[in-house]
Amino acid sequence: MDHGRLKDRLAKAGQSHLLRFWDQLSPEEQAEFALELEGMNFTEINAFFKNAMETSGQTKQEKVDSRMEPLPREVLGSVTRDRDSIKEWEEEGLRCISENRVAVLLLAGGQGTRLGVSYPKGMYDVGLPSHKTLFQLQAERILRLEQLARRQHANPCCIPWYIMTSGRTMESTQEFFLKHKYFGLKQENVIFFQQGMLPAMDFSGKIILENKSTLAMAPDGNGGLYRALGKHKIVEDMERRGIAYVHVYCVDNILVKVADPAFIGFCLRKGADCGAKVVEKTNPTETVGVVCKVGGCYQVVEYSEITLATAEMRSADGRLMFNAANLANHFFSLPFLKDVINTYEPQLLHHVAQKKIPYVDTRGQLIKPDKPNGIKMEKFVFDIFQFAKTFVVYEVLREDEFAPLKNADSQDGKDNPTTARHALMSLHHRWVLNAGAHFIDENGTRLPAIPSLKDGTDLPIKCEISPLVSYGGEGLEKLVHGREFQPSLIIDERGIHEHVRNGL
Ligand code: UD1
Repeated sequence: MDHGRLKDRLAKAGQSHLLRFWDQLSPEEQAEFALELEGMNFTEINAFFKNAMETSGQTKQEKVDSRMEPLPREVLGSVTRDRDSIKEWEEEGLRCISENRVAVLLLAGGQGTRLGVSYPKGMYDVGLPSHKTLFQLQAERILRLEQLARRQHANPCCIPWYIMTSGRTMESTQEFFLKHKYFGLKQENVIFFQQGMLPAMDFSGKIILENKSTLAMAPDGNGGLYRALGKHKIVEDMERRGIAYVHVYCVDNILVKVADPAFIGFCLRKGADCGAKVVEKTNPTETVGVVCKVGGCYQVVEYSEITLATAEMRSADGRLMFNAANLANHFFSLPFLKDVINTYEPQLLHHVAQKKIPYVDTRGQLIKPDKPNGIKMEKFVFDIFQFAKTFVVYEVLREDEFAPLKNADSQDGKDNPTTARHALMSLHHRWVLNAGAHFIDENGTRLPAIPSLKDGTDLPIKCEISPLVSYGGEGLEKLVHGREFQPSLIIDERGIHEHVRNGL
């Protein structure tokens, strides 16, 4: 496209300011910038902006709050209340895995802004004795689950792992997997695909220039998943492999039970096309979304979309009324995913997040604003719950399944590397105790099962079990029953190691 036509297109779209510095660019910069602009659909972007702005803002929040209803009992399953059914659900899930009908899909296109690292979050090492990254823990859980399914049903099986990245995370994620030889998985069963990006816009709908020849672009939210699935023909790939169910999850929960057979089995037994995993929210200000109904439809209301008054509401039993904290762990049947991609996704509106977006002013000066100057538009992965024919919710225990890594370490901080590391080690400590072993100190005295306060901090016993040895606490009795261990204890595929010196 020649420059004149590009100019016309931008003028028609009300985005002429993007060429403000054109004459100051080198020919290479001009060529690259023109290519980027030519690839953009401004009519669509302007429409996204208009629709998103119309439905956002205070009025929407008030409307959401007044229309929220807690989940009806009949859609709920629970690891505590439905103890008797867990085994059956687990077996159902494992059988399905053994028949090669289950895939996992990781949402890894986020930018990890709060954690403050420049690389993808999955590459983060929270400082476990093994120094395994989040990606490695997840890969090894997949490997172990394949082994368990194979053992139970004598079928060679594989759980394909689809990984959604963004323009910001694709290259480094792929390089990391290559460098680590896919953590023992077969390369052809790890499928990367990239979500879309959208420009940040000011409050009047003008696309923001990050510098003279670059737009301020950001991934289009984890709900960009559905468009990306369609664009990259991922569902077709799933169909070729015979996949019928997909477990979608977010990258940062160190305890995530990837392709959890009990969750999958529960969803299957309930005939669900869509399911969500939750834990009980006990603190009104916890930064999680809550699964509920809004205007009769299933939805997640994010912490940023709910007022404190609503977040603090309690039921007659004293628990929070909206207490189903979303883990970003979802189950979808393949026909449902196909309907979403083909029919429902285009109907979804973007959520608006007001942000401080660095920009170049009219004189070409780089400005870092100290208050929000524009918006980013995102779709959310759970926006499609409303379209499910049979929606179910599976409640699990926080201490077993939820320890997200959101923030950098800080004193008294939440959801950071220290809390994630401690959550994993304390879970593994409990697994070892439940398998009939004990921990002792250097004098041979048994340590209490509940670690006591030490130096004013509640440090867990250092204990780490490789996912290659145990997915959910199974298989440990034969290794540890009746034995005493002095921490640190590491159990991995090479054996049992005590006294490993590593910082907590
Ligand atoms: C998310 C959930 C929230 C839940 C919480 C639990 C969403 C929108 N919100 O919140 O309801 O209570 O997790 O920890 O799901 N991502 C992409 N592309 C993007 C943006 C994000 O793939 O454009 C991925 C991230 O890499 C991450 C996941 O989506 O794996 C969640 O994103 P994040 O922004 O961290 O969501 P939260 O605000 O933590």
